Amino acid sequence: MIPNSVTLVEVGPRDGLQNEKQPVSTAHKVELVHRLQSAGLREIEVTSYVSPKWVPQMADNAQVMAAIARPVGVRHSVLVPNMVGLQAMLAGGAATRPDEIVVFGAATQAFSQKNINCSIEESIDRFAPVVAAALEAGLKVRSAISCALGCPYQGEVSPDEVEHLVKLMKGIGVQHCGIADTIGTGTPRRAQAVMERALRHYPMHEVSGHFHDTYGQALANIYACMELGVHTFDTSVAGLGGCPYAKGATGNVATEDVVFMLHGMGVATGIDLDALVDAGGFISDVLGRAPVSRAGKALLTKKGKVFAGAAA
Ligand code: HMG
Ligand code: MG
Repeated sequence: MIPNSVTLVEVGPRDGLQNEKQPVSTAHKVELVHRLQSAGLREIEVTSYVSPKWVPQMADNAQVMAAIARPVGVRHSVLVPNMVGLQAMLAGGAATRPDEIVVFGAATQAFSQKNINCSIEESIDRFAPVVAAALEAGLKVRSAISCALGCPYQGEVSPDEVEHLVKLMKGIGVQHCGIADTIGTGTPRRAQAVMERALRHYPMHEVSGHFHDTYGQALANIYACMELGVHTFDTSVAGLGGCPYAKGATGNVATEDVVFMLHGMGVATGIDLDALVDAGGFISDVLGRAPVSRAGKALLTKKGKVFAGAAA
């Protein structure tokens, strides 16, 4: 039942960098995307068209989209929360056009209010015209179901609450269901239970897992979901990131760690681990710190890189 190959959706440039307080230049963001493309990532979440007052780091969304190369076979996506964002995205024409958009809702009312300033029901009302317009424009539409395994404000979240939002997203025409453990409190059996709810409404190839690694559970959760046959996961190079509206949340599971595990299991990813590790080293240098990725750090150390505080 374990899949022979897995697709990784690289979310570092968006989910990773959105949480950085220090400014990251547009040129560095573009170079990161290019390095990820060269490392073999075929799905990259590049930026988001959200309010720059809410997430200042993503304010250069159009400039990043206009500057990145578009190699054949690579799908680039952006987050869009409402029609203002969609119109801003479409205003750039072909030069800034992504292949896919992501609408992001939450399984709990509290997180929906904190993250996108509206209730779950209002978010669906806002997403519906965005989804319709994106489909009309020939874009694929993916969803992120935040707080599927725990909420920083509500606490426990039931699979029923998750399935409720999955059904609402499906009802407005969203084509792919991303189950997101925003605060990383999920554990393998619970991750499976929630995935099974998503799989009641979406086929296997349109379901994915997005696991933040705050409590060190992400690799185990990915493996548990692979046992169900799930073969698409979001990951973040160097373990960058977190969510500005989920205090203490760390980044997504590091792409390097997931690739190391999958290749060790003989599961194909199409990714060149060596080039990926260098991409993680590059963005970590830009940010002035070591990668969070354990595999990335170990492999960079093997190549001779010395990290501050490392034993001689
Ligand atoms: P709001 O203040 O309720 O929006 O924000 P509004 O419609 O009342 O408009 C207020 C002002 O914002 C207006 O400007 C709008 O034009 C402007 P003003 O008239 O005051 O000058 N505005 C916008 N500007 C740019 N782009 C837009 C946009 N919309 C309105 N799209 C809004 C609502 C959704 C915009 C806001 O709450 C927001 O931007 N939230 C972003 C939150 C965010 O990006 N969070 C992180 C991403 S989600 C995540 O990380 C989780 C995920 O990884 C999965 C997981 O791990 O769970 C995906
Ligand atoms: Mg996230």
